[in-house]
Amino acid sequence: MKPLFPTRYHLSGAALAVLLTVSPLAQAEISRGAVMASTCFACHGTDGKSTGAIPSIYGIPADSLIATMKAFREDLRAATVMNRHAKGYTDEEIVHIANYLSNIK
Ligand code: HEC
Repeated sequence: MKPLFPTRYHLSGAALAVLLTVSPLAQAEISRGAVMASTCFACHGTDGKSTGAIPSIYGIPADSLIATMKAFREDLRAATVMNRHAKGYTDEEIVHIANYLSNIK
C-alpha cells in the first residue's frame, strides 16, 4: 500500500539560498518549517505548486496563510480534509510552515 502522505524533503533553490545566508538559529527554524511543509506537498504539489485541482500554497503572505490554517483548525472555514489536517499543528508550527511557504517564489 502506498503511504498516505509520502514525505519528500525537497528544498527549493530560494530556500537553500536563504539557508546559506542566515544565522544558525534562524536556519534551524527555517528547516523545521521546510520539513513540516514537505507534508503539505503530497497534496499541494512540490514546493506547494499544484498541478491539479488542489490550490497552490506557495508565496502566500505568512499572515494570510496563518489565518487560513487557524480557520481550518477551528472549523471556521469549510473544508474536506484541511480542517482535519490543520488540527495536527500547534500555533508555533503553523508559523514555521507559513514562513517557509511564503518565501517560495
Ligand atoms: C490530504 C491532502 C492535503 C494535505 C496533506 C494538505 N492539504 Fe491543504 N488543502 C487540501 C485540499 C483538498 C484543500 C481544499 C480545501 C478542502 O477541501 O479541505 C486544501 C486547501 C488548503 C489551503 C487553502 C488554499 C486556498 O487558496 O483556498 C491552504 C492554505 C492549505 N490547504 C494549506 C496546507 C498546508 C500548509 C498543508 C501542510 C501543513 C496542507 N495544506 C496539507 C489538501 C491537503
